[in-house]
Amino acid sequence: MSKAVVLETVASEVRACTKCSLWKTRKNAVPGEGSPDAKVFFVGEAPGYWEDVKGEPFVGAAGKFLDTLFAEAGVSRSQVFIGNVLKCRPPNNRAPSPAEIEICTPFLDRQIAAIKPKLIVTLGNYSTAYIFAKAMLPFNGITNARGKFYQANVLGLAVTLFPTLHPAAGLYSARYKQLLFEDFRLLKAKILDLGLAI
Ligand code: URA
Repeated sequence: MSKAVVLETVASEVRACTKCSLWKTRKNAVPGEGSPDAKVFFVGEAPGYWEDVKGEPFVGAAGKFLDTLFAEAGVSRSQVFIGNVLKCRPPNNRAPSPAEIEICTPFLDRQIAAIKPKLIVTLGNYSTAYIFAKAMLPFNGITNARGKFYQANVLGLAVTLFPTLHPAAGLYSARYKQLLFEDFRLLKAKILDLGLAI
């Protein structure tokens, strides 16, 4: 099966999923989107209000800021893949529960396994905790982990991990905004260095 077919199969299963209770309050599931041939995979936390309305990742205020950060790193949405730890919005944007993460993340794993990215960028605490656990790397919070590159094995793939803050953090803190810009400039250099730019 081609990467595109695997991703479309996962997306159809996500849209029909009733494995945890979040399906009861969702308007739309948000499987994720981007290029099946992406070399860079961004992992967010969970859909918010606008993602739930539109069924697409990062289309609200944090998403608009993420687009600015993408421009800083010289990447466009169509070149990369964006997926979330949870595919459905938790009511009132509450934090994902451990049970929801356990139930939902096989979808994310299948997306990563299909795309085989060279670089995984985790946005915020939840996605970094999840991917670091998969890579068997110790994790002591996003503020300690962020802004550094880690060589790792995730799902049998040799990848570079780059944790950074969640873009929403940059909307309420000028300091976090500055750190995000710094991180995305490092990311740009790494993408060029690894020859991952399209
Ligand atoms: N925040 C996330 O983590 N993911 C989205 O898709 C939107 C906001």
